[in-house]
Amino acid sequence: MYKKRPIGVFDSGIGGLTVLKDLIDILPNEDFIYIADTAYCPYGTKSKTEITQRVEQIVDYLINMKVKAIIIACNTATANAKEIIEKANIPIIGVIDPTAKEAVYATKNGNIAVLATNLTIKLGIYQQLLSTENTRVYALGCSNFVPLAESNNRDSEETNKEIQETLFQFHDKNIDTVVYGCTHFGLLNESIKRSFPNAKIISCGVPTALLLKENMEKFKIVNDNCNKGKINICTTGNLKSFKGQISWFIYPYDTIKQVNI
Ligand code: DGL
Repeated sequence: MYKKRPIGVFDSGIGGLTVLKDLIDILPNEDFIYIADTAYCPYGTKSKTEITQRVEQIVDYLINMKVKAIIIACNTATANAKEIIEKANIPIIGVIDPTAKEAVYATKNGNIAVLATNLTIKLGIYQQLLSTENTRVYALGCSNFVPLAESNNRDSEETNKEIQETLFQFHDKNIDTVVYGCTHFGLLNESIKRSFPNAKIISCGVPTALLLKENMEKFKIVNDNCNKGKINICTTGNLKSFKGQISWFIYPYDTIKQVNI
């Protein structure tokens, strides 16, 4: 039955697992297939053409796996997926719109910082969505954070130093809201927060999961299963090193495997 089909979720690597975590919390009875496109990570330093092609291949792969909806748990992929989303005949939801909306709603003094990959910032979608007559948007491409998040040295002194130095430019901007416009950045939360001690952090997971829930209710495709859903994780890269990278992911998954896409 259609409602029983899984939901596809993908990212360039492990960052999208921060979104999957919120999807599981908000939609616990759904089955999920997560694809970490580790073989092509990072996305944020590649060209628009390369990423658009890659997103198309992954979306086609998930549609062939008979998913009923897709979450693009990657801002860079979302920023390059407008046409793919429009022509799809299943709901495909990107992370940028719900996250930007949440940030505009959250700010009190109007000073918003958005941290994302170089390509996401270059495409300017966040800047557009966050700009209102009451906001000032400070956007920074920090693709240098992605390998830090993918590594197993996230809490090291060098990682922390690089983050503090990159973010020093915000110290006098009285930022009250920080948007993680890259799903990898939640993994560096402890370090990033030190540069914004009084700001509210807006991550992609919860607003995106709530939007998916709303859409699934509208299209009547919510799984009426009463048991916990199944979680299947795939990587396009090396399975052994991927397993080592996701030891922090506390949700028990049913399968984990390498796939060629
Ligand atoms: N996690 C991805 C995002 O949200 C991108 C990381 C990368 O550059 O691959 O934009």
